[in-house]
Amino acid sequence: MRLFFLGDVVGEIGCSFLMDKLPRFKREHNIDVCIANGENSAKGNGVTPRSVDMLLDSGVDFITLGNHTYKRPEFSEYLEGDVPVVRPFNYPEGAPGEGVGIIDKGRYRIAVINMQGTAYSEPLGNPFSQMEKALEQTDGCKIKIVDFHAEATAEKRAMGFFLDGRVTAVIGTHTHVQTADEQLLPKGTAYITDVGMCGPVQSVLGVEPQLAIRKFRTNLPVRFENAQGECAINGVVISIDEKTGKAESIERVVLK
Ligand SMILES: [Fe+2]
Ligand SMILES: [Fe+2]
Repeated sequence: MRLFFLGDVVGEIGCSFLMDKLPRFKREHNIDVCIANGENSAKGNGVTPRSVDMLLDSGVDFITLGNHTYKRPEFSEYLEGDVPVVRPFNYPEGAPGEGVGIIDKGRYRIAVINMQGTAYSEPLGNPFSQMEKALEQTDGCKIKIVDFHAEATAEKRAMGFFLDGRVTAVIGTHTHVQTADEQLLPKGTAYITDVGMCGPVQSVLGVEPQLAIRKFRTNLPVRFENAQGECAINGVVISIDEKTGKAESIERVVLK
């Protein structure tokens, strides 16, 4: 089977672009399952039930999140329902939502694990020890996809090797800039440090550049808005042997 994993979708502009481009890409590239990081998909900031609906309507099957999960109060309640969304597993006990989810396609099932890094990031549970616990919840699924939402390249590559041969793929998210290190690790796990972003190209991680400049120059609070203009979809297509759960290849995608 072929899985398309999309980098952080930014704002309404990113969601609309996906609506426009994703159905055709899926058809033309024989995509069976599509997973997207949606932590920045709401207009303005964070993620809302509405932005999740837009992602699902565009053809995304399952959504992962990150450090912006709880930015919008209405989203916590939504996460308590039976939804095709996971948030980082290593949030404190009692945080709304689940860190492991299952996509059931009948012929095969896919476990999706979302974990957040702690290097240069929030002090959540240790992602490596928490990963052992998360793997126990993958319920016999052969295909296991990890979204490691983290800042530091070294932490992400260490997680890749830590999980090599134990999961199908370790996909980095959060930095919004696609890295050119997609590879199959020695024991067969597909890996990329950061899969990139789906959103406006002339932006600072999706934000209107002048607002980001103002923030860095003044250190004062600045209300961020999404940049406009040309968009791109960043992702990876992973071919997977559904009988063994092994990745066969990983290819980077930049779709304009
Ligand atoms: Fe993000
Ligand atoms: Fe993030």
